[in-house]
Amino acid sequence: MRVVTTAQTPELDVQPSPLALLLLGREADPKSERGVECPGDLPSPSDPDLVARARAAKEKLGDKVFVLGHHYQRDEVIQFADVTGDSFKLARDAAARPEAEYIVFCGVHFMAESADILTSDDQKVVLPDLAAGCSMADMATAEQVAECWDVLTEAGIAEQVVPVSYMNSSADIKAFTGKHGGTICTSSNAKRALDWAFEQGEPSATKVLFLPDQHLGRNTAVRDMGMSLDDCVVYNPHKPNGGLTADELRAAKMILWRGHCSVHGRFSLDSVNDVRARIPGVNVLVHPECRHEVVAAADHVGSTEYIIKTLEAAPAGSKWAIGTELNLVRRLANRFAPEGKEIVFLDRTVCFCSTMNRIDLPHLVWALESLAEGNLVNRIEVDKETEAFAKLALERMLALP
Ligand code: 13P
Ligand code: SF4
Repeated sequence: MRVVTTAQTPELDVQPSPLALLLLGREADPKSERGVECPGDLPSPSDPDLVARARAAKEKLGDKVFVLGHHYQRDEVIQFADVTGDSFKLARDAAARPEAEYIVFCGVHFMAESADILTSDDQKVVLPDLAAGCSMADMATAEQVAECWDVLTEAGIAEQVVPVSYMNSSADIKAFTGKHGGTICTSSNAKRALDWAFEQGEPSATKVLFLPDQHLGRNTAVRDMGMSLDDCVVYNPHKPNGGLTADELRAAKMILWRGHCSVHGRFSLDSVNDVRARIPGVNVLVHPECRHEVVAAADHVGSTEYIIKTLEAAPAGSKWAIGTELNLVRRLANRFAPEGKEIVFLDRTVCFCSTMNRIDLPHLVWALESLAEGNLVNRIEVDKETEAFAKLALERMLALP
């Protein structure tokens, strides 16, 4: 790990933090930059006792507990997952486990909410650390979206608009979507969701309000459905009328909410160009939450599940630069190295998803041991009215062809 000290404190011997979290600067001016490179390694935080304790608590709970692990989870957590997957697979897996009394969700808050909505009232969903949120999901609140709908109504187009909301959204936004005839999508099925949405009315008159990830919406519309960038407008909830005129709204096919993922948003066209220059013959494979110019310059684009399947099918000797969260990329690099597949992270300065990383082994052990002792902790429960409409939208997604 390399440390850059500040120009203001040259006399201080600044020690590297064992956990690289703050990344500032790219060595253009090392004197004024302060920070560390992300080394791709977290210090091993886990007391070996915790592994034995997690195992014992899980064994004691037996079939009463089902542990779901998103691909971005830490290795120390993922080893205890009964199933791993992307958001879509985990939503389906949660719905297919009616016998488990407790669903422990190793992922983030919106995923646990979706699991609660899709499971029966007797089943309890637990998020081991309640601070595991998602900054993208927080970028669309129920009040902002209701205001947006008023703007669309004022412009005389609400009747033509079908909301399509990314799984990475709160239960409130999913309920709004269900109430207004829309569907949820994930990065695995966004094209199918948009196809479905445009079939809900006269295709040439129908518009989609895509929430909250502008990049997934734009990438799917332009890359997968042949729309042009001019068919898309961005609705900014922090500006009056979303920063758009009624004419701009009427002319658009895709009204994209101004939200993004702070992890994927850091990959840039420079990241792609740099890696191609550094590793001749490299295949660039990125998640569709990346910016449009990154996706346009990549060789392959898809969800976390797609990324894994692509690498499984890749020939020995092939080289890959992956643009998604670091826990997953590092795990895949280790897994496929013995098969002679070279896998690198697309950009050295992009780090872990800090909220996914909130779920660590101590929190998982605490949750499992509490459940084993009969204490229900950190339950995620969506209220009944929200649940009914959100379920409608989620079930539309699960029924997509
Ligand atoms: P998928 O697992 O659906 O590809 O989503 C990635 C993600 O950002 C989850 O937060
Ligand atoms: Fe949210 Fe991005 Fe983290 Fe996924 S990777 S949980 S979208 S902040």
